[in-house]
Amino acid sequence: MSKLSRIEIICDMSKFSLLKSELSQLGVRGMTFIQVLGCGAEKGTKEYEVDENYEMELLPKIEVQCVVESERVAEIVDRVEKALYTGHIGDGKIFVMSLDDVIRVRTGDHGEKAL
Ligand SMILES: Nc1ncnc2c1ncn2[C@@H]1O[C@H](COP(=O)(O)OP(=O)(O)OP(=O)(O)O)[C@@H](O)[C@H]1O
Ligand SMILES: [Mg+2]
Repeated sequence: MSKLSRIEIICDMSKFSLLKSELSQLGVRGMTFIQVLGCGAEKGTKEYEVDENYEMELLPKIEVQCVVESERVAEIVDRVEKALYTGHIGDGKIFVMSLDDVIRVRTGDHGEKAL
């Protein structure tokens, strides 16, 4: 059974072009782009110390998903981290999860062959 992982990148819209071009250069064979609302540790503010009673504010973000061979995750995450990094609040987050299977409907292929 092949090993597949899904990488989910949530970041600011302004990073979309850079992200797309990095993933494309890395030879990722497909991606999904979703416009989402979200917040992280600062509850949508620009402050490091947010009052625990402060209601979260959800900001527009983008989510880019791609499914890759698990052995490629480290390389891809490294490149994405470098592309997104500014050192400021809200640089984004990368989630990595293992995936059971992928099926390409046209061919009936499963797993890595279906990528
Ligand atoms: N724990 C979480 N669970 C689900 N989604 C999250 C979580 N943390 C962050 N996200 C998503 O990732 C986006 C980007 O998060 P963000 O970069 O602000 O992370 P952070 O942990 O607050 O780091 P930083 O302190 O650098 O801002 C959020 O807008 C949200 O959509
Ligand atoms: Mg944050």
